[in-house]
Amino acid sequence: MISIKVDDKYIEVSEGANLLQVCLENGVFIPNLCYLDGIAEPPASCRMCFVEIEGLEMPVAACSVRIHAPLVVSTATEQVRRLQRANLKLLLSVHHVDCRNCPANKKCELQRLAKFLKIALNSKPLENMLTQLQIDDTHPCFDYHPYRCVLCGRCVAVCRPGNGAPVLAFAKRGFDTIITSFGMSPDGEMPCEACTKCAGVCPVGALTLKPAGPNL
Ligand code: SF4
Ligand code: SF4
Ligand code: FES
Repeated sequence: MISIKVDDKYIEVSEGANLLQVCLENGVFIPNLCYLDGIAEPPASCRMCFVEIEGLEMPVAACSVRIHAPLVVSTATEQVRRLQRANLKLLLSVHHVDCRNCPANKKCELQRLAKFLKIALNSKPLENMLTQLQIDDTHPCFDYHPYRCVLCGRCVAVCRPGNGAPVLAFAKRGFDTIITSFGMSPDGEMPCEACTKCAGVCPVGALTLKPAGPNL
């Protein structure tokens, strides 16, 4: 076992444990969107889980740290909060905030992070970019709402049907990036098993199951 100090708490951890997971399991909340317990290689793409580690010059993403030696970790420094707030504001700048009409209302991770970081949810200077985004209702199980998607990639990470080829993938680039349900076979069949794990791990309301259930 290895002893680490997180803020004012000493925690015993197993060699190789994930720092973000350890903190969350021990009651130290660190904002996060893209991390999923059990994923071997966290993508560290949302840039929300910054912490400072004694001896390192710059804050690091806690989800990308495997613990192999004692650490002294600070989760709530001014610099950490500044980075987290800046990243959350960036996410919200391209997010259509309409919580009252969103199925994720009251269980949404964006709402939770905004509250935690004391950021107004309705700051959206780039809102005009959202007007071109259309709901994708082509998948038989769910609809995709790109203007709510934070591109965390959790849905892609859990999408592993029996044939091993994910149905979901990132498509396009930059501000145009979306999640798409590639994966039609040449004969037009969708290799989706309707497991609906993707909708289950979405931290916001971007993947909504079709009310009538899968239509495969
Ligand atoms: S995804 Fe979250 S923040 Fe966005 S509209 Fe839905 S409840 Fe509100
Ligand atoms: S659809 Fe949901 S889970 Fe998938 S990338 Fe967007 S926010 Fe993340
Ligand atoms: S949770 Fe660590 S970068 Fe997303």
